[in-house]
Amino acid sequence: MRALVYNGPKDVSVVDVPDAEIEAPTDAVVKITTTNICGSDLHMYEGRTDVEQGKVLGHENMGVVEEVGPGVTRLKKGDRVSLPFNIACGHCRNCTQGKTAFCLEVNPGSAGGAYGYADMGPYSGGQAEYLRVPFADFNALRLPGGTEHENDFTMLSDIFPTGWHGTRLAGLQPGESVAIMGAGPVGLMAALSARIQGADQIYVVDMQPDRLRLAEQVGATPVDFSKGSAEEQIMEATKGVGVDRGVEAVGWQAHDHSGDEHPAGTLDTLVEVVRATGGIGVVGVFPPADPNGPDPDMQEGRLRFPFGQFFFKGQSMGTGQCNTKAYNRQLRDLIIAGKADPGFIVSHELSLEDAASGYEHFDNREDGWTKVLLHP
Ligand SMILES: NC(=O)c1ccc[n+]([C@@H]2O[C@H](COP(=O)([O-])OP(=O)(O)OC[C@H]3O[C@@H](n4cnc5c(N)ncnc54)[C@H](O)[C@@H]3O)[C@@H](O)[C@H]2O)c1
Ligand SMILES: [Zn+2]
Ligand SMILES: [Zn+2]
Repeated sequence: MRALVYNGPKDVSVVDVPDAEIEAPTDAVVKITTTNICGSDLHMYEGRTDVEQGKVLGHENMGVVEEVGPGVTRLKKGDRVSLPFNIACGHCRNCTQGKTAFCLEVNPGSAGGAYGYADMGPYSGGQAEYLRVPFADFNALRLPGGTEHENDFTMLSDIFPTGWHGTRLAGLQPGESVAIMGAGPVGLMAALSARIQGADQIYVVDMQPDRLRLAEQVGATPVDFSKGSAEEQIMEATKGVGVDRGVEAVGWQAHDHSGDEHPAGTLDTLVEVVRATGGIGVVGVFPPADPNGPDPDMQEGRLRFPFGQFFFKGQSMGTGQCNTKAYNRQLRDLIIAGKADPGFIVSHELSLEDAASGYEHFDNREDGWTKVLLHP
């Protein structure tokens, strides 16, 4: 089958690889209809992880069940499914508590497994014609058959739940205000989630005009940090009060308007603008180490952010990968009911064969390249 593999920094290509197969009785093989390129893939693409050469990338996958193992009882050939980016066993301590992003079984020695990702286990990704899905009954979310809502449903594997998770980690309540750092796909999904949850004011910070326009489209107030500090703009807009909640949707490769990286830049802002006793949800990725990165602290996974001010204000913070299964069923049903349209961020739909150029444009954050879908 054809699949996109990682060759080295800024070098991916679509090549022939062995077919995805049933390896355990609880596996299914899914024929991919849509698989997305994610901002998380760019950390690997840019050579900022230890992902191995030849790995098939792709963790935002949906498609149609092609084959099931003898231990699969719920799913059957022909079912249309969304696959959470987390691979989870369904029976370990964390899985039984709904924390499927931290499954203790699928990636021994670590907590959490995923398709096609550095340090997340031996699993191949779905930027390919077919994907092996472990513990398929537990992991696959069934969708209505056909092709309706494809561009909305494809956001259920990761970024719509992840944006939602950011707002839940922050503790957002109806009628509260929230500042979201980053207007990438995850930040935009956090803005959509905040709107659905009844936030009264949503500020979205970025410097990409096309992305800020999309934030405005979901009812958020755009804050362009290339035109002055985000702190000052948000404090002025809130008449010095600040916001109730903050969501970090950038990660450690956050940069200033000249492009220099400041891993703690977004948390500096959020600790400043979130009111005393407010909450901050961090879904942007911060790695345990970034040995080749420019920041000496982050090389050891240490972040210099104003912890004293954070403590003094009695703020709280929630972090981590999204437990996709905690939300994807309800978010699917909001899409079916016409109450959520996460597909509004899709900017490009490419064939799998054109995936390498999709990576290049998306990585350059070229104007208008917001979210790239691949159709194998
Ligand atoms: N926790 C999870 O489960 C999970 C899931 C998916 C993605 N992620 C992570 O979420 C982050 C965002 O993902 P994405 O797909 O939206 O990525 P992206 O790279 O497309 O978007 C990031 C955006 O942040 C902006 N940005 C950079 N520095 C900034 C700053 N200082 N202030 C404000 N904005 C800034 C960029 O201009 C860009 O638009 C990544 O770190 C990704 O790995 C986490
Ligand atoms: Zn993703
Ligand atoms: Zn588990």
